[in-house]
Amino acid sequence: MKLSVIGCGYLGATHAACMADLGHDVIGIDVDPAKVQLLNDGVVPFYEPGLDEVLTRALASGRLRFTTSWDEVADFADVHFLCVGTPQKAGSYAADLRYVDGAIADLAPRLVRPSLVIGKSTVPVGTADRLAAYLLEHAPAGAEVHLAWNPEFLREGFAVQDTVSPDRLVFGIAAAEDEQTMRAVYEPVLVKNTPLVISNRPTAELVKTAANSFLATKISFINAMAEICEVAGADVAVLAEAIGHDERIGSKFLRAGIGFGGGCLPKDIRAFQARVGELGVSDALTFLHDIDEINLRRRAHVVDLARTIVGGRFVGTKVAVLGAAFKPDSDDVRDSPALDIAASVFTQGADVIVHDPKAIENARARFPNLHYSEDLDAVVADADVVLHLTEWKQYRELDPARIGSLVRGKHIIDGRLALDPALWRAAGWNYTALGRPNA
Ligand code: UDX
Repeated sequence: MKLSVIGCGYLGATHAACMADLGHDVIGIDVDPAKVQLLNDGVVPFYEPGLDEVLTRALASGRLRFTTSWDEVADFADVHFLCVGTPQKAGSYAADLRYVDGAIADLAPRLVRPSLVIGKSTVPVGTADRLAAYLLEHAPAGAEVHLAWNPEFLREGFAVQDTVSPDRLVFGIAAAEDEQTMRAVYEPVLVKNTPLVISNRPTAELVKTAANSFLATKISFINAMAEICEVAGADVAVLAEAIGHDERIGSKFLRAGIGFGGGCLPKDIRAFQARVGELGVSDALTFLHDIDEINLRRRAHVVDLARTIVGGRFVGTKVAVLGAAFKPDSDDVRDSPALDIAASVFTQGADVIVHDPKAIENARARFPNLHYSEDLDAVVADADVVLHLTEWKQYRELDPARIGSLVRGKHIIDGRLALDPALWRAAGWNYTALGRPNA
């Protein structure tokens, strides 16, 4: 089938490459000519394990190309996937829909033959119906242009796997025949017995926001338990393990620590609150406000712990930060808890030096005043305290004895509960983990 993918960020670039790899003819469009050039050259503009190979393979097959031309897109494809970003609006909780609206405004006047637009971006419920009305009015093909919603659930770091083998597909449709078109697009995925849920468009939009809200709630729930464990002398890691054995609860997304960040969870729970306010049912989501607060409190708590460890003031101290990305296997620093903590410690007067295997460039663009290095030994050298904030595998493999010989103070705060306390303590470290007993 001839597909277009509109917006070539984490979602769109992955979707375009995977769809071409599955056998479709795909054209990707992005407003950024530099990004288009990189993708056409086979270079993934961000770090996503396994995507380079898929992109290279798809380009070599001749079934994939990228452009900045809307005319080319409208001319080539009959099915258009909308994959642009919906960031948080400045000064508001609401989602900024300017890229979604802009893309539809560019595409609509060029839709001169029957076509299907499939939204994948995360949008406030009701957006799809609004866009459908716009297309009906502005597309020359009028009622022969259909709109469906097909939320994505891809996790950064597992984007390829989540695209070609998702745990479910959701088709939000308004016309029965669109199901057949979508089934044809996803045929290679559906043959793997992937569960398929068919719904109307508002349900499909809500599935995504509900899923992310639930995940955020799970993380903040265990982080609230961590707050209690800290004052009660209990161990949140053991608590999570014990409750996770109950299949109704499940063990995933119950890892306590400095909480969730990234380009999705934080802004999605805020946009959801803004939207239900508009719909007049804000009481339904008052709990999400607490979920956000618990999450942000964990970041502040690490800063407080570190300040206490260095003697009550950061001025004149050196703080080594391990990790800048919002999670391992990603170079994404959007709303990264790790970087947020690093910046806060810096603002309070410490000399902060940050290590990350992949995210330094993005981190530096966001916080140019912090120091960065890819040389881990240089980062920890003479540090008064080490903060472990993104659980990259290489940090778990560190030798505490060797690192201990480089630092000034053998204090480590494990913000991700990913290091082995016994190992670090045996090497003479004062090891502190959120929600765990400190001895
Ligand atoms: C998320 C959703 O998982 C995905 O389905 C959706 O499509 C997009 O948003 P992503 O942003 O890639 O994906 O990250 P995710 O793996 O969900 O992690 C989000 C944050 O929660 C990270 O900062 C992570 O460190 C944190 N987290 C996750 C925890 O603090 N504890 C956990 O147990 C799990």
